[in-house]
Amino acid sequence: MSNIAARLINWQEQHGRHHLPWQGTHDPYAIWLSEIMLQQTQVGTVIPYYQRFLRYFPDIPSLSQAPLDDILSLWSGLGYYSRARHLYQAACIIVRDYHGTFPKERELIQQLPGIGRSTAAAIMVFAYGHRSAILDGNVKRVFSRYFGIDGYPGKKKVQDQLWLKAEESLPNGNSKKCHQVYTQALMDLGATICTRHRPQCHDCPLRSDCVAFKEKRTDQLPTAKPR
Ligand code: ADE
Repeated sequence: MSNIAARLINWQEQHGRHHLPWQGTHDPYAIWLSEIMLQQTQVGTVIPYYQRFLRYFPDIPSLSQAPLDDILSLWSGLGYYSRARHLYQAACIIVRDYHGTFPKERELIQQLPGIGRSTAAAIMVFAYGHRSAILDGNVKRVFSRYFGIDGYPGKKKVQDQLWLKAEESLPNGNSKKCHQVYTQALMDLGATICTRHRPQCHDCPLRSDCVAFKEKRTDQLPTAKPR
């Protein structure tokens, strides 16, 4: 197993977040909803919205039959309303094309509105225990620093490098749980330790091999957007 994977899995078991409401389910619909809400909104804000949304719309068919205005009003306060519109459109597609059952294949998941490569991967990991690399904003920061990858991560070339590192760092194990714990660890480390400002490097399990830490460049990585 890669050094990074073993350390992250260990760290997650001791210091990661374990009681988030979407961690208690493998229902792809509930996982999908959580990942969409978490794209631009922090965990603490998302939790009550997530729970209320699932009470109103417990499954894909109920969401697909809802008036869009009801969905938008449940979303009110979370912002980025295109997320809610895409969610509704995707629910309608899933009912029309897949009998209301969330698809299992990466290509099909990624074709749904509002679901990019990283969100599709997170759903595959948390719902199905798949071995799949994620790369959201927080995780880009972790990998940029750990591997010392220079260049603005919004640039295709830099992003390709980061995806390669994300793939190479995956655990080799074949237990579903191991991929879920690893992925949650990356998200939790990025959110709580490897923060944009003032990262808590003294508590980081990756510190001894982290290029940015070694070179005292955590404030320069990831590279800011060129002006
Ligand atoms: N950010 C994105 N997905 C997340 C998840 N499943 N748990 C915590 N934070 C997240």
